[in-house]
Amino acid sequence: MLLGAVGGPQYDTLPRALRPEQGILGIRKALGLFANLRPALLYPELAAASSFKPEVVAGLDLMIVRELTGDIYFGQPRGRRKNAAGEDEGFDTMHYSVSEIERIARVGFETARRRGKKLCSVDKANVLDTSMLWREVVTALGRDYPDVELSHMYVDNAAMQLVKRPKQFDVIVTGNLFGDILSDEASMLAGSIGMLPSASLDAAAKGLYEPIHGSAPDIAGRDLANPLATILSLAMMFRHTFARADVADRIEAAVRRVLAAGLRTGDIALPGEATVGTKAMGAAVVAALA
Ligand code: IPM
Ligand code: MG
Repeated sequence: MLLGAVGGPQYDTLPRALRPEQGILGIRKALGLFANLRPALLYPELAAASSFKPEVVAGLDLMIVRELTGDIYFGQPRGRRKNAAGEDEGFDTMHYSVSEIERIARVGFETARRRGKKLCSVDKANVLDTSMLWREVVTALGRDYPDVELSHMYVDNAAMQLVKRPKQFDVIVTGNLFGDILSDEASMLAGSIGMLPSASLDAAAKGLYEPIHGSAPDIAGRDLANPLATILSLAMMFRHTFARADVADRIEAAVRRVLAAGLRTGDIALPGEATVGTKAMGAAVVAALA
């Protein structure tokens, strides 16, 4: 997110090897963080702060499980070349192996099992061979999870359904590229990007936890940032790496309590509503934990 926000014409033409994105992608790959959990949860208190109609998003609680170390992001060969007509072209390779699909689909099924027991696998199986295999493998694995209702959706339709009727989804599992796009879209449903945590997990459920908003350099050091996404990332760490759902529940309940009490940082306040700073919001959550 932070990196995505860096811009400007000079930056846009940097060669790939020098781009900061290669840093985060390298960390994900080196640490084997193949499972990216990106929740989009709209606390009822914040329904009015969303740019969507309250009845469309109130009570929204969906989880995107994005594969994070494969797909066209890492596929070889890739690069620049001359085509047969002597023209410059760029090319990338999308691929997924059976084992890569299986391990992320398993995370999707397990996640759904702990939640609303509905898993929607998103692909482009009407066009892409990679997606055809993806759909086959997910379908076959579904037999291990008879208690989870599995559906499949093409990514273009999923992009539409997310804004049309987002509450139809419980857990979405998808590849790296589609997950990148859909998770940005889903973040808007949750009112503010300042509310959303994320987890990137390896096979042993060790992970990297971060708010999805990055470091917001424009407001750094001014006591303006919403600390709730960071605090909620800590809750995810307790839930997923430390297997302490009890602690995670307590942290999340404390966040709910401060929102219910009306505390708002600038990003989640309605026009005219009183706001608190980063420190006051953090202190209120700590107090609510007690
Ligand atoms: C994200 C970001 C990254 C991605 C960029 C910064 C490489 O957009 O975490 O969603 O594309 O994965
Ligand atoms: Mg992204």
